[in-house]
Amino acid sequence: MLTLKSENAQNLSGDVKLPGDKSISHRSLIFGCLAKGQTVIRGLLEGDDVMSTRSALVQLGGDITLIDDDDDRRWVVNGVGLGGFKAPEAPLDLGNAGTGVRLLMGVVAGSGINAVFTGDASLSKRPMARVTDPLKDMGAKVEARDGTYLPLMITAPDQPQALDYTSPVASAQIKSAVLLAGLTARGTTSVTEPKASRDHTEAMLRHFGASVESIYHDDGRYTARLAGEAELTARDVDVPSDPSSAAFLAVAATITPGSELTLKAVGTNPLRFGLFETLIDMGADMTLSNQRQEGGEDVADITVRSAQLRGITVPPERAASMIDEYPILSVAAAHATGKTEMVGVEELRVKETDRIQLMADGLLVAGVKVETTHDSMTVYGQDSSPIQGGNTVDACHDHRIAMSFLTLGLTTSQPMTVLGAETIATSFPNFTDLMNGIGGKISVVDA
Ligand code: S3P
Repeated sequence: MLTLKSENAQNLSGDVKLPGDKSISHRSLIFGCLAKGQTVIRGLLEGDDVMSTRSALVQLGGDITLIDDDDDRRWVVNGVGLGGFKAPEAPLDLGNAGTGVRLLMGVVAGSGINAVFTGDASLSKRPMARVTDPLKDMGAKVEARDGTYLPLMITAPDQPQALDYTSPVASAQIKSAVLLAGLTARGTTSVTEPKASRDHTEAMLRHFGASVESIYHDDGRYTARLAGEAELTARDVDVPSDPSSAAFLAVAATITPGSELTLKAVGTNPLRFGLFETLIDMGADMTLSNQRQEGGEDVADITVRSAQLRGITVPPERAASMIDEYPILSVAAAHATGKTEMVGVEELRVKETDRIQLMADGLLVAGVKVETTHDSMTVYGQDSSPIQGGNTVDACHDHRIAMSFLTLGLTTSQPMTVLGAETIATSFPNFTDLMNGIGGKISVVDA
């Protein structure tokens, strides 16, 4: 188990190239395998989660190779085509990867095969019925521990039935699983969400030649409609930098005095950009430049300088666009003047951990007042008085909990210690090196 400590720092500075987007990386491997032809992926996030998806795809018959020429590192996927997967001989172990396991459940349900899914201690506590319920409606048979947890077996129908599904939560994982199963169904499959979740699946479906409609309803709901019996044709993918990883650097620069960072080529898809909008509403000093498209996704360079934040109520309709960023937002909020209210965020309770609970517990011991309800968290900012810190937090297999408290430690009077920090490798393998490269002080206590 890796234990890391982070200490008070000043003047973070530099240009930062962040790792590839995790959501897009999972999808690029999956779509590459489902397409006909050869897909070349550049900028893939080589984190543990994406590598778990890769291993599972290989067990299903995918052909995925890394080519590491000096200046052109790329992943080459030879697609098997829709319906081309074979039943795996052993269970598919997705480790910590919620996106990997849920999207692959949709793939298996649309592939006419059966597969058993397993995962680590964290993934085994996360509810899967939210994905398997609609897949059952499409004809899949599902056996799960207590009806919803891994290990879980999916037996696909010969051909899935098309489905019009209304999801109770805005979740790209649910939406994507249903759409992936719908690729081989006869007729049109649609998913309606209470608010639009990230649309990388829809974008990639279009990129690979499928016919998908995105409908934004006047009342805020969103529907994706996919024509079934599709064919996917291989297309190269350039993965942009992950805004969810950039979020840690943006907050670090904001709260650490004397800082100025430029985060290069960060994905600015509006359905992922809620944290940045929120920081700007709170008074952050952030400018976007060089806005452009790379590989079909909007990207920009983001320059962030230290600033005094003020507390706000985060609009609940923004939650889907920053769902992974509430842990690091609560660290920013601890430094604001006044209170920051995060409402309508009960989904945080079913992420890699119960993130409301873990953030509140760790911040409280660090000296920050926090109040919680089932679906909200209120952080009382410390103004300019220093945050005491000095506590040890167990990441409990949650990369974003680990990185949030290490970022907090850059500003606390006493160092913050994080147990189980190896989990950071699921999404941001070079986090520590990158932080230290810009002036952070993160060190290994125990490996
Ligand atoms: C993801 C969707 C989100 C997010 C996760 C990645 C995706 O989960 O939290 O980190 O790539 O589809 P939900 O769909 O459960 O909200």
